[in-house]
Amino acid sequence: MTKTKTMTKNMTKNMTKTMAKNMARTGATNPLATNPLSTNPLSTNPMSGDGRLKIALQKSGRLSEMSVGLLEKAGISLTKSRDQLLCRAHNFPLDVFLVRDDDIPAFLATNVCQVGILGQNALLEKQALFAEKYAALEEVMALGFGRCRLSIAAPTSFEYRSVDSLNGKTIATSYRGLLEAYLRDKGVEADIVTMEGAVEVAPRTHLADAICDLVSTGNTLISNGLQEQDVILQSQAVLIKNNNMDSELQEIYEKILSRIRAVLRADNSRYIMLNSPIDSLDAIKAVLPGSASPTVMPLQGREDMVAVHAVCEEEVFWTTMEELQRNGANSILVVPIEKMLD
Ligand code: PRP
Ligand code: ZN
Repeated sequence: MTKTKTMTKNMTKNMTKTMAKNMARTGATNPLATNPLSTNPLSTNPMSGDGRLKIALQKSGRLSEMSVGLLEKAGISLTKSRDQLLCRAHNFPLDVFLVRDDDIPAFLATNVCQVGILGQNALLEKQALFAEKYAALEEVMALGFGRCRLSIAAPTSFEYRSVDSLNGKTIATSYRGLLEAYLRDKGVEADIVTMEGAVEVAPRTHLADAICDLVSTGNTLISNGLQEQDVILQSQAVLIKNNNMDSELQEIYEKILSRIRAVLRADNSRYIMLNSPIDSLDAIKAVLPGSASPTVMPLQGREDMVAVHAVCEEEVFWTTMEELQRNGANSILVVPIEKMLD
């Protein structure tokens, strides 16, 4: 945290000159000048004007590898030096900031970065705590990884009947904003203790009666004698952006967005090939999952059979393959798709 802040401040200092020059050249006024954020040193929008889009990713932790991996799948090659705050893409006008996930919303709100990847939980928590500051941040799309949930959990000895059982109790969490909103909505009055980490030990040390924390496999809860009671939020990694993006960067953003969409689509799609009796072609087409119009081709030397190729935009299960087989299909082949662009 401290490290990130310091480095960012230094970078801000170095970049302000360039920015001032750029703004003078274009006659632009700093769009953030009238923003309440402008008291923040980051809000001087240090690196705008160099024509490169800035994306903030988690430096280390759950989402880190998948986030970098997603960019790589989108054909963006990065210098892999994880100790650096900033790495540049060689083949795309994109700079990657590797920061603490908790800091990502601030990097976007101050326009140091225009896009980011982080857990929905982290974005919603910041927006619950500081609605105005993070109002310009928008979730663009869910990325299908880093799935977890924010839940209330209590020791197994706690007689938990419903969320009402938390009235008058103390709850430890790193998600005060979301928890407060949830309790308010349910009409429950409880004390909240904010903890930065190790929330799961709070009941054992009598700091709190219950906790509200992220659950993924559930192992942390089990090994701390806690039982999950209420799910407050289902979360996963999302692509977020700052809505105040200048038009030059907007173009780069659109390009990257379309590539990421294509990667996600390809990840979820399969190419299926099979041979089908002409007579049962309709039945076989009906079984093919999530495929609009398969390609049908003649099979040399066979009057009664055709080859069918289709892109299925969902998983192809064994049960589906068996059903295809029951309908007379043979030589069924399902292969992954690497890239896909309409
Ligand atoms: C989260 C959460 C739990 C754990 C849950 O912590 O705070 O401790 O993951 O995962 P599980 O259900 O798979 O056991 P994280 O590892 O992200 O670190 P942090 O608490 O230090 O932020
Ligand atoms: Zn934890």
